[in-house]
Amino acid sequence: MTVFYNGNFIAKKDVKISPDDRGFLFGDGVYEVVRSYFGCLFMFNEHINRLNYSLKQLNINFKYSERLENIVRELIEINDFEKKDGVVYLQITRGCAPRSLKYPEGELEPTVYITLNEINPDYYSYKYGIKASLVDDIRWQRCDIKSVNLLANVIAHNQAVEKGSKIGLFVKNGIITEGTHVGLFGVKDNELITHPSDNQILPSITRGVIFNLCNKLNITITEQAIRPENVYNLDELFIVGTSPEIAPVIFLDNKKMGNGTPGTITVMLQQAFSKLIRDCQKIQ
Ligand SMILES: Cc1ncc(COP(=O)(O)O)c(C=O)c1O
Repeated sequence: MTVFYNGNFIAKKDVKISPDDRGFLFGDGVYEVVRSYFGCLFMFNEHINRLNYSLKQLNINFKYSERLENIVRELIEINDFEKKDGVVYLQITRGCAPRSLKYPEGELEPTVYITLNEINPDYYSYKYGIKASLVDDIRWQRCDIKSVNLLANVIAHNQAVEKGSKIGLFVKNGIITEGTHVGLFGVKDNELITHPSDNQILPSITRGVIFNLCNKLNITITEQAIRPENVYNLDELFIVGTSPEIAPVIFLDNKKMGNGTPGTITVMLQQAFSKLIRDCQKIQ
């Protein structure tokens, strides 16, 4: 596997991360995950805009965002990913400096790491739905930043897995915010409901795609958090994200959601989403 590391295309095994890297020491960095459908980069500009937003929130001075697309395309070519379904992983940390919480004096060269991972889409979950569990949202107050600090997500996700679930749904202050690595939508009376885009959730790119699709399909979306005590009154519940796309939640903590099968609106959105992907691959 060839990766991009600090300006060079090199073998993954040759990457050497400095122990002084602030990403390594403090998790002082951000990342993005972009889907590459057989070389078709889905919503690439939207992901780079979010990357720039995250960098800006952390005052990381990275000047080369506009070069990322060419680098990623070259990486896809070198690794033959036109023939594979995969994701691009991009990570940028503040760079290397002696350990101190204080931002280092002067200009620091950010550390840039980009790699590709092949994925096997989970068609079974997509078609038949998944089980989810409610877990405590112990994350910080800036979940809108896609920071590499994912410890709270890691803990919560594993709590859900221990309960036999595919995914954890975060609960904070009596409301469900989002999934441990996905966005979340409920459906009631053919209308969608989702947490407002604020500092408690990541501005999911797939969430944005759902908003656009609903606009076209004349489906109303209310931006309002779902409360755990009301969740079973919903007709449908589904998760969204770059890797899972749209997956129905048919069980929540051992209780059926809706009638325990993927709902009509969920399936309609899955079909509309699949068409976007097919169109993206045609343009390529
Ligand atoms: C906490 C969280 N919410 C939502 C998402 C979904 O975001 P996207 O649709 O951009 O993949 C992710 C993806 O990593 C995430 O980690």
